[in-house]
Amino acid sequence: MMTVLAFNVRICVVAACLFLASQAIGYTMDDLCKQWSGAGYIGNPSDCRGWGYCLNQQTVSWGTCKTGLVFNAQTACCENATITPCSTSAVQTCSAISSPIYVPNLLNCTEYAHCDGKGKIAYGDCGNGGVYSEATGKCQWGPACPQDNICRFMQSNIFVGDPNKCGSYMNCINGYGSSTACTSSPNIYYNAATGKCQSTNPCTGDNTNSGDSGQFTVGQTSNTACNATNFKNAQTLTVDDKEVTYKYVTDSETCYGYYYCADEGATGYWNQCPTGTQFNNALGKCVSPASFVCTHNRCGNVNNKFMAVEGCLGYTICSSGATNDCPSTSKYYDEVNNICTSTEPKYAICKSS
Ligand SMILES: *[C@@H]1O[C@H](CO)[C@@H](O)[C@H](O)[C@H]1NC(C)=O
Ligand SMILES: *[C@@H]1O[C@H](CO)[C@@H](O)[C@H](O)[C@H]1NC(C)=O
Ligand SMILES: *[C@@H]1O[C@H](CO)[C@@H](O)[C@H](O)[C@H]1NC(C)=O
Repeated sequence: MMTVLAFNVRICVVAACLFLASQAIGYTMDDLCKQWSGAGYIGNPSDCRGWGYCLNQQTVSWGTCKTGLVFNAQTACCENATITPCSTSAVQTCSAISSPIYVPNLLNCTEYAHCDGKGKIAYGDCGNGGVYSEATGKCQWGPACPQDNICRFMQSNIFVGDPNKCGSYMNCINGYGSSTACTSSPNIYYNAATGKCQSTNPCTGDNTNSGDSGQFTVGQTSNTACNATNFKNAQTLTVDDKEVTYKYVTDSETCYGYYYCADEGATGYWNQCPTGTQFNNALGKCVSPASFVCTHNRCGNVNNKFMAVEGCLGYTICSSGATNDCPSTSKYYDEVNNICTSTEPKYAICKSS
């Protein structure tokens, strides 16, 4: 009885994940260029006819293929839409493609589409818990959507930074790449600007696509974290009815990192909360993320695909940093249970906006 119940609960949670995972990817061309040290064309993640040109990690030019053509990001060419699928829409693919083909429904990863080659589209679905993989042409176990990958819009056979894990890279091959860590010691950090692994951590605080940006390392020191402002604003910790002189203060950049300060003006030592928790500066403690309002990237240090936005009227897709609304009939996102619901959850993160 117990096992059956647990299994059902798990299926429900996965189903809720899939329901929410069905939104568009949410990358911009700038997000893509930022991960690539090279120069060249990329696809536009919001329009399969569009392209951009990356140089020095920026989109320096952009344009659109002429009518009847779509941009093939892997070959970096405008190609005839009668033979090349549209990377952003199954409907558009099926309206133009001249031979039968299966393509992912990019609006719903549970589904795939079949184009009959004569302009008609039909949908199939991978069932509860399944997602369609365009690379294998098969359904696989979710909830991660295989198509949610920046390599989809980038040339084949290049190396790019992983937007979800600064310091790691992906080798894009035919629209796919998986996160890979640099392993040859001491060069363990991938630098997206140079395209090389190096020994020092190149990741800075601007990693908006990622919760765990890797910009801090455990034990890293700061000369300013324990300054008078931070030290004063942190609540005093009391141990055995005695006020003690150390404090934990926020790192002011992540939701899960804090500095240990032995005294005001002392050197701060960085550390991070146990997985699943975040640092509440007012309490000086690691607590449930839903129990307070952290204004930095709330996706950090949690293994959630989605996190509520402040006020809970919607959620952030952690893999991309994009936000989405819940359906109007169940407008609140309950991040603890991972569902959209009609009743406002009682967590602190939902109380303000
Ligand atoms: C996605 O597709 C599945 C299978 O057809 C369906 O049950 C589900 O409701 C769809 N989700 C959305 C958000 O449309
Ligand atoms: C695409 O290919 C079809 C069939 O070969 C051809 O009739 C059409 O003119 C081509 N479209 C473009 C824009 O080249
Ligand atoms: C103390 O450090 C924080 C950042 O950690 C900074 O915002 C603040 O301005 C600093 N205050 C003083 C008085 O230096």
